[in-house]
Amino acid sequence: MSGNIITIDGPSGAGKSTIARLAALRLGLRYLDTGAMYRAVTLHCMRRGIHLDQPKEIAGALAGLELRVELVHEGPMRVFIGTDEVTGNIRTQEVTRNIHYVADVTEVRNYLVDMQRKIGANGDLVTEGRDQGTLVFPGASLKVYMFATPAVRARRRFNELKERGQDASYEEVLEDVSKRDYLDMGRELGGLKKALDAVELDTSELSPDQVAESIVKLAKSRLKMQTRKIDKSALEAMKRESKKQD
Ligand code: C5P
Repeated sequence: MSGNIITIDGPSGAGKSTIARLAALRLGLRYLDTGAMYRAVTLHCMRRGIHLDQPKEIAGALAGLELRVELVHEGPMRVFIGTDEVTGNIRTQEVTRNIHYVADVTEVRNYLVDMQRKIGANGDLVTEGRDQGTLVFPGASLKVYMFATPAVRARRRFNELKERGQDASYEEVLEDVSKRDYLDMGRELGGLKKALDAVELDTSELSPDQVAESIVKLAKSRLKMQTRKIDKSALEAMKRESKKQD
């Protein structure tokens, strides 16, 4: 591995995407959203009419999958299945609800972990997910484990849904958050847990800018990395667009 790799793991709704993108932008690194890869495999299986309760069928569907991601220094990650761009299509509630079937399948995890390691082979990356610091990049230069209380994460998610005019009660959202925590933490391979050498950041009381700044400071002091000044309007646009649409 030549350049730096920064891993950011944590439960859904901890603010990982926005924060990872902000940090990548400030440090001039590429940004990898590994959740989007699990989403894309899920969408592929749904489109193929695979029985999602049949792990063997899911594993079999990998043979016909041409998954490609495009990482850019100053933009969101783009996702393609064959020539079809699915960057937006992977954010539906239906995909979100079905991901756990796919993320539990060992063959899927091996396939995506392999892809992620190839992407990270030259470093120069901020990567975000559940198992990046523990399993995928155990030798990463800096590891962050980000969390917030379930109540705070559910409140953020509820506000996002309301902003988008989607109908859901806070109680439903809280139940959803707790269910995803349970599934993500209980996964045998690639389950969510803090790497022993990860820095813990509680985002409950902090804004995405504040958390991103803590990561940037760590990168500067521990890795001697340089930062770049980013145009304010570009930052605001990025934050609006990087709110996950699941
Ligand atoms: O990050 P995001 O919420 O988009 O991830 C969606 C789901 O993909 C997670 O709830 C988890 O089940 C799965 N995932 C995973 N390993 C990763 C990233 C995501 O199992 N590295």
